[in-house]
Amino acid sequence: MDKISIAIDGPAAAGKSTIAKMVANNLNYTYIDTGAMYRCVAYYAFIHQVDFHDEEGVCNLLKDIKINMLPGGIIMLNNQDVSMAIRENEVSMGASIVSGYSRVRSFLVSQQRDMAKGGGVILDGRDIGTVVLPDAELKIYQVASIECRAIRRHKENLERGIDSDLEEIKKEIAERDHADMTREISPLKKADDAIEIDTSDMSLDEVVATVMDLVSQKL
Ligand code: C5P
Repeated sequence: MDKISIAIDGPAAAGKSTIAKMVANNLNYTYIDTGAMYRCVAYYAFIHQVDFHDEEGVCNLLKDIKINMLPGGIIMLNNQDVSMAIRENEVSMGASIVSGYSRVRSFLVSQQRDMAKGGGVILDGRDIGTVVLPDAELKIYQVASIECRAIRRHKENLERGIDSDLEEIKKEIAERDHADMTREISPLKKADDAIEIDTSDMSLDEVVATVMDLVSQKL
């Protein structure tokens, strides 16, 4: 097989995007950060002062939202670079709320499938292996303890110059996990044919090596 499609799902802040980026780089594949797309919808609602809980109001904004992903992880929303702005805590919580709306999901899922056409892609999110790309050749379910995820996200925020409080992050991650796992539409769950990797006690290099090994078994 030439180029495969890789799905990485898992709870918030499990390091999916870091791993996905590194693996994509090694394989010369395209990385698609689907969480960033839900974040863009939440961010757009936020700047237009539409309450995240106002489903109708949020869905009415979709027609005005154009998301582009540029190389280097740059996220463009209507031609504006929002890569940093969408990482704010308020937007994370908003993304978790708006991702429960079926119109938001179908709007983004169809774009994700379009971007993934032809393979040679690695997508990370919550529903990639179960809904977006159920036929992906390799599905990974990446988990880590909540303690470990909170510490990693805290460090990441500080590096990015974003205000950060460890206890707040832990609470926010637990809330988002609960919302993502219990929502009616496309809840976060491990696909039957996904391989689970618990990265709590693994270094980045170890996780990448594990994924690369799984990839090589599929090629
Ligand atoms: O992955 P990230 O933390 O950036 O995702 C932000 C939020 O977007 C998640 O908490 C989840 O609610 C939603 N999401 C989703 N489906 C995806 C990716 C993200 O519902 N495929």
